[in-house]
Amino acid sequence: MKLLVLNGPNLNLLGTREPGIYGSQTFEDYFKNLTKKFSGVALSYKQSNHEGELVTIIQQADGMYDGIVLNAAAYTHTSVAIGDAIKAVGVPVVEVHISNTFAREAFRHHSFISPNAKGVILGFGLQSYDLAIQSFL
Ligand code: DQA
Repeated sequence: MKLLVLNGPNLNLLGTREPGIYGSQTFEDYFKNLTKKFSGVALSYKQSNHEGELVTIIQQADGMYDGIVLNAAAYTHTSVAIGDAIKAVGVPVVEVHISNTFAREAFRHHSFISPNAKGVILGFGLQSYDLAIQSFL
């Protein structure tokens, strides 16, 4: 099983970004643990702060991966283009969020990803990614 973990804008700052919401672990450290925990899965990790680059990565993932674990971060709530990209490709996407977006500001309650995702996991901290990977297994 080949899975791509794809993070959107500002998630490169995990560890120092609003630790009260997102915790104090860097994603790189967490990802090392993930690869150990899921040693039977070929896990890749990409991050971009750019909407168009995320679209391109999703398009290129088609046929290359069995699934994408996607945290589109703020683009979740704004990006028709990322929603359309998911609709356009055959690769299944599980949407994840570290925080419970429904317990936060109203603008975080809408997602352009969810209608096109296989499922949504949110609010479990970084463990949301573990759960998303498990959902593919
Ligand atoms: C987030 C939630 C988004 O609303 C926010 O813009 C993020 C992170 C999360 O993982 O909780 O950047 O996707």
